[in-house]
Amino acid sequence: MNEMRIPYHVGIIMDGNGRWATKRGKKRSAGHLEGSKTLEKLAIYANKRGVKILSVYAFSTDNFKRSSEEVNYLMDLFIMQFNNKMSKIDKEGIRVIFSGRRHPLREDVLEAMDKITEKTKNNKNGILNICLNYGGMEEIVDAAKKIAIDFADDVIKLDDIDKQSFNKYLYQNLPPVDLLIRTSGEYRISNFMPYQITYSEFYFTDVLFPDFNEKEFEKALESFNSRDRRFGNAK
Ligand code: IPE
Ligand code: IPE
Ligand code: MG
Repeated sequence: MNEMRIPYHVGIIMDGNGRWATKRGKKRSAGHLEGSKTLEKLAIYANKRGVKILSVYAFSTDNFKRSSEEVNYLMDLFIMQFNNKMSKIDKEGIRVIFSGRRHPLREDVLEAMDKITEKTKNNKNGILNICLNYGGMEEIVDAAKKIAIDFADDVIKLDDIDKQSFNKYLYQNLPPVDLLIRTSGEYRISNFMPYQITYSEFYFTDVLFPDFNEKEFEKALESFNSRDRRFGNAK
């Protein structure tokens, strides 16, 4: 049997927490709690399978449109997760980083994010990139502004702006996403990593994120493995 090709960078749009809870007659928050447990297990499993970078969509800039009850629950859950639950991820040698705008996140959320970033900064086994208060168009706009400043300050010349140097102005200078997974049966990107997914293989599944376990992740890996990536080349 040929050895399996493992994607270097996997992105997950972790969707369907609310529906998972509603289906069980529970509050949406119960779905978010269950989803956070799924994420912890998946992050460790993906790393064990050889995925070096896992980017997960935890909260979009547009998710602030939700009720303050739901937003506050999620923020409290993030703090709890970053303060306690991430110890296993740290033990596995996974470095935690964040992508997104800091404003208007609560100070206590920012503190918890900074703490886990600092705590895991020397870990070398892999990267968990948590996209929190993240928007993809926002990321590109923010990068363009930073380039404009560097251009005005003579730090970068017009001719030096290309795909690679532009990438360095994004929230994190990561390689492209190889495999993008979206759970819960929605066939859209919802503003997730547009610059990084231009040649990603897409995997959509009806499974709701809290139920997206190791076995389901393995199916996504198998699907990726069966794809013929051409990057514009002729066969
Ligand atoms: C994803 O689940 C989690 C976040 C967006 C924070 P949802 O909360 O969007 O769940 P559904 O889509 O309503 O089921
Ligand atoms: C995308 O899910 C954002 C996250 C998973 C954090 P949404 O549930 O917010 O996306 P839409 O509203 O269905 O497009
Ligand atoms: Mg959703």
